[in-house]
Amino acid sequence: MGKKHNVTRRDFVKVMTGVTGVIIGGGIALPAIGYAVDPAIKSGGSGKDAWISLGPVENYPIGEPTPFNFTRTKVNGWEKTASTHGLFVLRKSDTEIKVFSNVCTHLACRVAWHKDKGEYVCPCHDGVFDKDGNVVSGPPPRPLDQYEYKIEDGNLFVRFAGG
Ligand code: FES
Repeated sequence: MGKKHNVTRRDFVKVMTGVTGVIIGGGIALPAIGYAVDPAIKSGGSGKDAWISLGPVENYPIGEPTPFNFTRTKVNGWEKTASTHGLFVLRKSDTEIKVFSNVCTHLACRVAWHKDKGEYVCPCHDGVFDKDGNVVSGPPPRPLDQYEYKIEDGNLFVRFAGG
C-alpha cells in the first residue's frame, strides 16, 4: 500500500513562498549578470564585437580628414544610455589610413577640422593640432588619440574600446 501525502494549507504556502523567492531572486540576479558581460560587446548587439563599420574606404577622400559620428548604447539592468562619439578618417594614400578621435587631449572638448587652416581646432582653450593629430599650440599635452582600424572587403572598421 502506498503512503498517502496530504498537502496542508501551511505546506502549500511554504512551497509557494519559496517559488516566489526564486523568481524574484532570478529577476534581480539576471540583469546584474548581463552587465558583468563586457559592456562593449553587449552594447554592440551586432555580433561584430566592438568593431564599428564606417562604410566603404572609397567614401573617404585621400588627403582630407573626413568626420564620422556614431552612437553606442549601454544597457545597465533596466537603464539604457546612449553616447555619441566622433572621429576623423584621414586617408593618406591607398594603403595608409589614420583615424583620429575628435576628443581633445586637454579636457575632452570636441575638436573641429578647419580646412582653411589645415588644422584641428579645439574651441575650449584654443588647442590646435595639425592634420596628423600632433599638437601645434595650446594646452593639449599629447597628440589626438587614434583608433585601431581594419579593412575588410573594402569596408573600414574602427575598434571601439569603451565608453
Ligand atoms: S579642452 Fe581642448 S584645449 Fe582645453
